[in-house]
Amino acid sequence: MTEEHLPQRYYPSTQYLLPADQEEVARLNEQHRIIIKAFEDKLSLAPLSLNTGDKVLESAAGSGVWALEFAAENIVKGVEVDIECIDISAKQYPVTYPSHIHFSVHSVANLPPEWSNTFSYAHQRLVVLAMNDTLWRSAMKELFRVLKPGGWLELIEFETKRFHCGVGPSSNRLCSLVDKLFTEKGIIQDVSDYLCPLLKEVGFIDIQCQTRDVSVGGRRIIEGGNGYTGEQWGEGWMGIKVPVLTGGGYGVANTTEEFDALVQASVREWNDSKEVYTIFYVITARKPVSS
Ligand SMILES: C[S@@+](CC[C@H](N)C(=O)[O-])C[C@H]1O[C@@H](n2cnc3c(N)ncnc32)[C@H](O)[C@@H]1O
Repeated sequence: MTEEHLPQRYYPSTQYLLPADQEEVARLNEQHRIIIKAFEDKLSLAPLSLNTGDKVLESAAGSGVWALEFAAENIVKGVEVDIECIDISAKQYPVTYPSHIHFSVHSVANLPPEWSNTFSYAHQRLVVLAMNDTLWRSAMKELFRVLKPGGWLELIEFETKRFHCGVGPSSNRLCSLVDKLFTEKGIIQDVSDYLCPLLKEVGFIDIQCQTRDVSVGGRRIIEGGNGYTGEQWGEGWMGIKVPVLTGGGYGVANTTEEFDALVQASVREWNDSKEVYTIFYVITARKPVSS
């Protein structure tokens, strides 16, 4: 496939499989609502006790939606935390924001040396499609380093291995394609089984993992309406179109038209099924006080 036939989306790196542009901002903000609802309207599950002036790191901030809401929630409680948002791309950052929230461009795998022992809390959501083993190891070491002794880490990820979204011929083909792409990119697919031992190895303690099944398509009806519509779930998969096509289509979709048709047919299968869901994990862990 020649460059001029690829969709005009902005991709910040070849390792990260999704775009980082204004279309993606809209998707991330919609997804934020779905995730928060699945976790009983909570922005955070770590047992935090933050005070005014405490520093919070929002890693892989994307549109900054979590940071803006977390800051506002704390202001209501009379606490003004200082939030540092980082991401490998600034393209999704908000234009206006309160002065106690800061945005900068860094990789979580390589944070500024002067940030050691700085943050009382570090939050990171949905970087699984940007990470291989080497990056995860560097990232967890960096997050440990920049947390203050006693500080909390919270990671939110979704399962990319035990997919429950192959419910018909098209969605099964899409899942097999995605599996091949993830394997080639070294994406960690059993992310919860992988992360908890890694956190222990890095030095974290009090490691806990909570899960929530989040419905997709027709299953939303039996789950009280929460979850992704087939179309919303499909928009996420449309984001990987460029890596799929530049990777040669993985024997499933060789052209933009074939890929679009595959996702559209999968969306219909998801909306017609009551079996489709994804699993979200929230992993909390603490840096020992005596480190
Ligand atoms: C799926 S988005 C999630 C954004 C946000 N955390 C949320 O939940 O709405 C993943 C984000 O990770 C960022 N990202 C990818 N690789 C990264 C890295 N090595 N360090 C920091 N951010 C990264 C991407 O640019 C993107 O904004």
